[in-house]
Amino acid sequence: MEKFVILGGAKLAGEVNISGAKNSAVALIVAATMVKGVCVIENVPEVTDTYVLAEIINKLGGRAEFTSKGTITIDCTNLNCYEASYDMVGKIRASSYLMGALLGRFNHAKVALPGGCDFGVRPINLHLKAFTALGATHSLDYALVDIQAERLVGTSIYMDQVSVGATINAMLAATLAEGITIIENAAKEPHVVDVANFLNSMGANVKGAGTDVIKIKGVEELHGGTYSVIPDQIEAGTFMIAAAATGGDVVIKNVIPKHLDSLSAKLMEMGVNVEEHDEAVRVYVDKPLEKAKVNTMPYPGFPTDLQPQMVALLTKAEGTSIVTENVWDNRFQYINQLARMGAQITVDGRVAIIEGVGKLKGAPVSSTDLRAGAAMVIAGLMADGVTEVFNLKYIDRGYEDFVQKLKGLGAQITRRVVEDEEIVETIA
Ligand code: EPU
Repeated sequence: MEKFVILGGAKLAGEVNISGAKNSAVALIVAATMVKGVCVIENVPEVTDTYVLAEIINKLGGRAEFTSKGTITIDCTNLNCYEASYDMVGKIRASSYLMGALLGRFNHAKVALPGGCDFGVRPINLHLKAFTALGATHSLDYALVDIQAERLVGTSIYMDQVSVGATINAMLAATLAEGITIIENAAKEPHVVDVANFLNSMGANVKGAGTDVIKIKGVEELHGGTYSVIPDQIEAGTFMIAAAATGGDVVIKNVIPKHLDSLSAKLMEMGVNVEEHDEAVRVYVDKPLEKAKVNTMPYPGFPTDLQPQMVALLTKAEGTSIVTENVWDNRFQYINQLARMGAQITVDGRVAIIEGVGKLKGAPVSSTDLRAGAAMVIAGLMADGVTEVFNLKYIDRGYEDFVQKLKGLGAQITRRVVEDEEIVETIA
C-alpha cells in the first residue's frame, strides 16, 4: 500500500499538460470491441482503468496493448467471447459499456454488474431499458446480466433521467442495429460527443451527439482507423481548482476551454482570475476568495466530478458556501476526511454547507473515491503542515502522472510505501 505525503503551503506555478479524458477513453476502448479491424487510439491516459480494460479485451479473445506512451492499439477482429465475468470487470464502472458493445456485435452479452467508485446506488435500469427497446431481453444470474436478442432493431428511446452511461450504451448497441434509433433526453457530456465521433470515424452513422436528441442509423459493420481522445475536462478542472486553492498562477495546457465554462464562471464569481486561450486556461489569484453557491448538473452544468475538489477550495473562501449535489445521492462521504483537517461542513441530504475557515491543518486522511481523493490532495496542498493521503487506488484509476504533474508546478508531494504500523484504523 502507498500514500501521498504532502507539505502544504507551496503556491502552484508554471504550466501543466492535461492528458486525454479518462471517461472518454474507457468508452472508446470498449467501443473498439465492435470493430473488425485495427483501431489505434491516441491520447489515452495510462491509468488503472484503461489498463484493466486492455486486459479484459485480451481475455475476450481480442488484442489490446499500449504500443507507445498514450497510444493503445486494439484489434478485435477475432474477438470471440461475449461473457465478461466479475473477476474481469468487478474493478471498474466503465465495464458496463461491454453490455452495449458486445450486444451490438454478437446480439448477446453476459456481463457482471460493474464496480467502480461507490457513492450511492448506481443502477443500470436505463441501460436495460434501452436494450429492451432495441429488442433484447435480459435476466440476472449470480450478478451476471445476460442480455440477448435475435436481432437488434432501431427504435425511439426516451431516457427518464440524463445518464452518460445509458446514452453511450444505447449508442453502442444501436450502431450495429437495423434501422434508425433516436435517443431522446440524451446526455450531452463532451465524452458522449467523443464516442459518437469515434464511432463515425470507424464507419458508424451517429448524428446529434452533444444535443439532447441523438440519431443513429445502424450500419452492417465498423472498420478500423486512428482516433485521438479529447482532453480530460475533469483533470483540467482539478488543476484549475488546485491553482486557485494554493493562491498560485498556473497555465493549464491541452484543454478545450469551452468544456470548462461552468467551472471558469464559478471561479471568476469567487474572485479567481481565469484567462482563456486557444487550447489553454491560465488561473491565478490576487485577492481573497469569496463564498459561492454550486449546483452540480449534467453537462453543460457544473460537473459532479469536480464537486469534492470545489468543496475543498470553498473551505478557504470567506463566509458560508452552499454546494448541492444533484447527480449522485451519496457523494459527500469524504466530508469526514476534510473535517479531520479542520473543515467546518455540515451535510443535509444532498446539500453541504461550508463555513470558510481560512486555513486547513495537515492530517492523515483517506481517499474515499477518485474525485474525493483529488480533493484530499488539494486540501493537503492548501493546509498548514503535513498531510498524508492513504488509499491511493482510486486516484490511480483516473489521474495520469498526478504526482509528477503537481511536482512540476512546485508542489511538495511524494509517494511512499505505507509501513504496516502506520495503517490507522480510523482512516481506512
Ligand atoms: N442512473 C439511473 N439509472 C441508470 C443509470 C444512471 O438512475 O440506469 C442515475 C444515476 O444513479 C445517477 C445519474 O443517473 O444519479 C447519472 O448517472 P450516469 O449514468 O450519468 O453516470 P455514469 O455513466 O455511471 C459517468 C462517469 C462518472 C460521472 C457521471 C455523471 C464514466 C465512466 N463515469 O458515470 O464519473 O460522475 O457520469 O457525470 O464516464 C468519475 O469520473 O469520477 C465518475 C464517477
